[in-house]
Amino acid sequence: MADKLIIFDTTLRDGEQSPGASMTKDEKLRIARQLERMRVDVIEAGFAASSNGDFEAVRAIADAVRESTICSLARANDRDIARAAEALKGAARSRIHTFIATSELHMEKKLRMTREQVLEQATLAVRFARNLTDDIEFSPEDGYRSDMDFLARVVEAVIKEGARTINIPDTVGYAIPELYGNFIKTLREKVPNSDQAVWSVHCHNDLGMAVANSLAGVKIGGARQIECTINGLGERAGNCSLEEVVMALKTRRDYFGLDLGIDPSQIVPASRLVSQTTGFVVQPNKAVVGANAFAHASGIHQDGVLKARDTYEIMRAEDVGWSANKIVLGKLSGRNAFKQRLQELGVALESEAEVNAAFVRFKDLADRKNEIFDEDIIALVMDESVTQDHEHFRLVSLAQHSETGERPHARVVFAAGDQEFSAESDGNGPVDASLRAIESKVQSGAEMILYSVNAITSGSTESQGEVTVRLQHAGRVVNGVGADPDIVVASAKAYLSALNKLQSKVERVAAQG
Ligand code: KIV
Ligand code: ZN
Repeated sequence: MADKLIIFDTTLRDGEQSPGASMTKDEKLRIARQLERMRVDVIEAGFAASSNGDFEAVRAIADAVRESTICSLARANDRDIARAAEALKGAARSRIHTFIATSELHMEKKLRMTREQVLEQATLAVRFARNLTDDIEFSPEDGYRSDMDFLARVVEAVIKEGARTINIPDTVGYAIPELYGNFIKTLREKVPNSDQAVWSVHCHNDLGMAVANSLAGVKIGGARQIECTINGLGERAGNCSLEEVVMALKTRRDYFGLDLGIDPSQIVPASRLVSQTTGFVVQPNKAVVGANAFAHASGIHQDGVLKARDTYEIMRAEDVGWSANKIVLGKLSGRNAFKQRLQELGVALESEAEVNAAFVRFKDLADRKNEIFDEDIIALVMDESVTQDHEHFRLVSLAQHSETGERPHARVVFAAGDQEFSAESDGNGPVDASLRAIESKVQSGAEMILYSVNAITSGSTESQGEVTVRLQHAGRVVNGVGADPDIVVASAKAYLSALNKLQSKVERVAAQG
């Protein structure tokens, strides 16, 4: 029988550490449900002790998701570990993932601790966690750049205390596949009780090798858990991408010989959901989930594929969920069909009033757009949750005028709390004029560091435009996302959504800092 490989998704924890990728509790819950539908083995739902928001998100996911193990990160101290255990109380299966840095550089410069102190803290942390759960994962942060003999001592000690998964992070993306694979192999050989734990890999993508390194950790090193994120989201250049690593293992099962529990048909919907939620656009030529991943432009390739698909295709687009991109609803669809599609997409609206409000928006969209796709519904519901929850700034209406040879002008009416404001401005284009109008009243002083427009569904100009605005202010970076068939309106929504995020005071502790 083939070995089973565990897929540990950390989109909601490490992925969320990407500048601007922070998500609300509802957004995280929606993604967690999609990960569960994809049959991810372990979902790292957050870092409960890092903020109250993260604690609540981990708790909500632990309460709602039944099929996957739910995990929270915790530094190697009693307070973090107790907080993680508290947030995970409602889970069907839970895991505490505790970590401390073990490289000389991190111990000396960041932690200002000696080797013996780190060894002791790791041991005590796992001992403490062992009283709260059976399922403990331990990570020596910057493990790959740590001294092998010291690392082996730490790992042996934490396994003795009850850690059942040992994860060796390449925290800074420095590894090379063969070297990383051999590092894990040698380390396992050096640790006398290594057979009492599942070994795991966690690779960052700074040199573009996170997937290759993870696969080498499995093939050469004998790891049986891979930590990864949807679309490779994560700090700096990101993490190992789930879709790539999963499809490599499945497509080349002849070589790896490992079984996975993942349902690949949920990969593209998951990729879209994460991209729409965070505003991090997927590059068109990205393996598996990029818009061009299965497109054949050259005549020779098209001819080949028509004659025999496998001349140029090693995977089938529908196997990874591309067929999910179909027209699902239209102008004539009724409330029940809409509600059913929401359920199929895993969107749980809490009350009938919310379903009604979303349905009104759906009808409004269907009047302006013939074909409604799943992505449109997700965008619409996300927008809906923006307006109903607690959000301070909301778009009321927008009028703009642009004509060749004239300077564009916009008038925007928006609500800020209970008050309504009307603002006007001109600008280089209608988008510029609209955002200047909003800023003239709000005076956030934020610097815009990214503005991007993307068609939600590929193909035609009938698609809704999805706009991402990234703002930076007082050391914080936030992304706002807005969707509408009119990209000027989508831009105003995205700007207001980013302003809302800047307003919410999030006190966070960084996982690596
Ligand atoms: O990259 C890293 O080292 C991490 C740890 C906290 C596991 O994300
Ligand atoms: Zn990481």
